[in-house]
Order: sequence, then structure tokens, then C-alpha cells
Amino acid sequence: MDLLTKKIYNLYMHIKFVELNNFRNYDACHVDFCDGFNLICGTNGQGKTNLVESLVILSQSKSPRTHHIEEVIRDGESCASTKIELEKKFGKLSLECVVDDSKKFFINGNEIDKLSELFGNLVTIYFSPNEMEIVSGGPQERRDFMDTEISQLSGNYYNLTQRYEKVLFQRNKLLKNTHDHKVILDQIDIWNEQLASLAAPIIKTRKNFITKLLAPAQKSMDYLSKDAEKLNFEYIGAAGETVAEIKQNILNLLEGNLAKDMEVGYTTIGPHRDDIKIEINGKDSKIYASQGQKRSIVLAIKIGELSLFEDVLGEKPILVLDDVFSELDSSRQKKLYESVKDFQVIMTGTTFKFKPTTEYKVIKVKNGTIK
Ligand SMILES: Nc1ncnc2c1ncn2[C@@H]1O[C@H](COP(=O)(O)OP(=O)(O)OP(=O)(O)O)[C@@H](O)[C@H]1O
Ligand SMILES: [Mg+2]
Repeated sequence: MDLLTKKIYNLYMHIKFVELNNFRNYDACHVDFCDGFNLICGTNGQGKTNLVESLVILSQSKSPRTHHIEEVIRDGESCASTKIELEKKFGKLSLECVVDDSKKFFINGNEIDKLSELFGNLVTIYFSPNEMEIVSGGPQERRDFMDTEISQLSGNYYNLTQRYEKVLFQRNKLLKNTHDHKVILDQIDIWNEQLASLAAPIIKTRKNFITKLLAPAQKSMDYLSKDAEKLNFEYIGAAGETVAEIKQNILNLLEGNLAKDMEVGYTTIGPHRDDIKIEINGKDSKIYASQGQKRSIVLAIKIGELSLFEDVLGEKPILVLDDVFSELDSSRQKKLYESVKDFQVIMTGTTFKFKPTTEYKVIKVKNGTIK
């Protein structure tokens, strides 16, 4: 199964406007975007990040800032919403998220049953300073990165990860709560089989994603660093090229690690423990790379994703940059601009040291209102 196979149609995606209601420090607000560069400016604490967060929720189904989605409800209110109109080549589409006691999504006014239906409608590549965790943080950050990005490309992948989590939970429950080893040995094969059947396509898809991302990310890194810094990364997980091979390897690993798993009371191998090894000039980037180099690595990965996503989806995704541009010196700002000027870009910053040569719009934010 290859969930990342190139599709044949060719589409173009851009957000026409967003409407917020009681969303963080916004009361009721409507913001029109241009198809090119949208520069969201304002001093600290005015609502720039809140505005881009409202867009990312509609592409990733979750906030990039918090696991507690109810935090987006304006203080003193009981319900928040964010709604966009999106233009694709086949026509217009509206996406809405309403947060009250729960979180609900609507496509063209119809509530969706499964989150997987949301993915692929609005596709964003999102970069904020927190994304530096892809390089600096632990393996969970890199797994979250892969899962978030691949889910946007494939609702099926998202469903697989959800089913995997459920089976993993059941296997862990058996390991943790059963003190009679014979009972575990009687039941474990069923869970191993189910877990391996779900783990294999997840790992295969992640390997595909990482392999396809490598060349465009390396190309961007070469460009950003003037060939001084060589980027490399690979997926670290069960071996195997095909889903069948990976499944067999996972089964072997589950059996080989059973004694350990019984001792610790949880499953110690599988895609929930995998990682990406990221190297710069042949050395582990987490230890070796400077702050500036780490930022360049993540930037190169994100720019690389733009072309990978365009290739897979047959349409250009939207780039959302929070607080990234202002951190770059003017030469890197110019390079970043050159790399992304054919996309719709929505970016925040306190100051911009350059003027786009393509279509652009300045959106001034002050205390939750737009000028
Ligand atoms: N649920 C909420 N209700 C009301 N106000 C909120 C809520 N959540 C956050 N805020 C307010 O939003 C403001 C922060 O907005 P935001 O993070 O978008 O600022 P920013 O413009 O990105 O600033 P910076 O330049 O520092 O990144 C703060 O004043 C904060 O108190
Ligand atoms: Mg901010």
C-alpha cells in the first residue's frame, strides 16, 4: 500500500478569508487574505499567533499550541468558532470549527462524522519557533511531526494511527494488569497479529514520506546555507521494504521482546517508539547543530515539504509562518521569500525587512482587531 502516490489532477489552493467568533482575544472578526503574501503585523500580545492558530486548526484538526482546545474560547464566553472560505480549482469550500463542550468540524455547513474527512481540504505547512523541537526535542516530537503531516495527505493514514493506538492500549492493558504469565502467553499472539498488521502500513508510509522528503529538503538546505551544511535524515524503525516484510519483522520483534514487555508492563517496540535520525554534515544535529543551524534544518524540511505536498496532492499547499521571518537576517529572509513566492503565504512578525515583489497584503493586528 502506498498512501503517498502522486495524484493526477492539478489544483491550486488558497484561503479567501477567515471569520472568527469569540476566538481567543477576537470578538467577531473577518480577515480577507490575498493569494500571495499576507504579512500579519503588530506588537507583542496583539493576536497574531491567535489568527494563524485559527487557520491551522482547520488543517490539522488540532491546535499547534495546546492540547486543551477549550483554551481558544474567549474569556467569559462559552463557544468559539473559526471559519474559512477556501478556493480550490474545482470551486469554493467552507470549513468551520466550533468549540464549546466539544470540538466539531463542518464542511460546507455539514458536520463531519470522522476527523479523517477533514484532512486534505485545507493543507498547510506550518512553522513556528516551537517547531524547532523537531530537531531539538525527543522522538515523540518527530513522530508527531510525521503523523500530523502525513494525516493531512491521507485520512486513511490517520485512521490507521487511531486503530493502532487502540490495539496498543489493549496489548498494554494485558501486559500491565495480568500477573499470571500463562494468561498473557495464551492471549498475546492475537494482539501481536493485530498490532503488526496496523504497524506495518504505518511504518511503510512514514518511510515513504521521509524518503520522498529527503531530496527536496536537502536542496533547500544547500540553497539556504550556500552548500556549507549538508542535511541528511532517515527513518529509524523496524526493517523491511514491503508491508509484508515490515509486518514479519514487527512480529519477530514483538516475540523477541515479550519477556521485557511483560517485565515493564508495556509494549517497547513499534511505530510508537520509532524516530527520525537527523544529521548535519554527518553529525547528530540534536547535539551538534547551533540554534541557527537547527532553525535552517527545520526551514529546509518545511520548504522541502511544500514541493513534496504539491507533488502528492497535485496542488500547492499554503505556507503559514508564525514569528519565523523576523528571526532571520535579511539575506535569509530574501532566500526564504525566493523559495516560497509561488505559494500563498500567511506569516506573522513584528517587523519585515523586505518588500515582496509579488502580490502582498499587510494585515495590522491590534488588541484582537484588524486594521
Ligand atoms: N481564551 C482567550 N481569551 C481572551 N484572550 C486570550 C485568550 N487566549 C489568549 N488570549 C490573549 O491573546 C493575546 C496573545 O495573542 P497572541 O499570542 O496571538 O499574540 P501575538 O500577537 O502573537 O504576540 P507575540 O508577538 O508576542 O507573539 C494575549 O493578550 C492573551 O491574553
Ligand atoms: Mg505570537
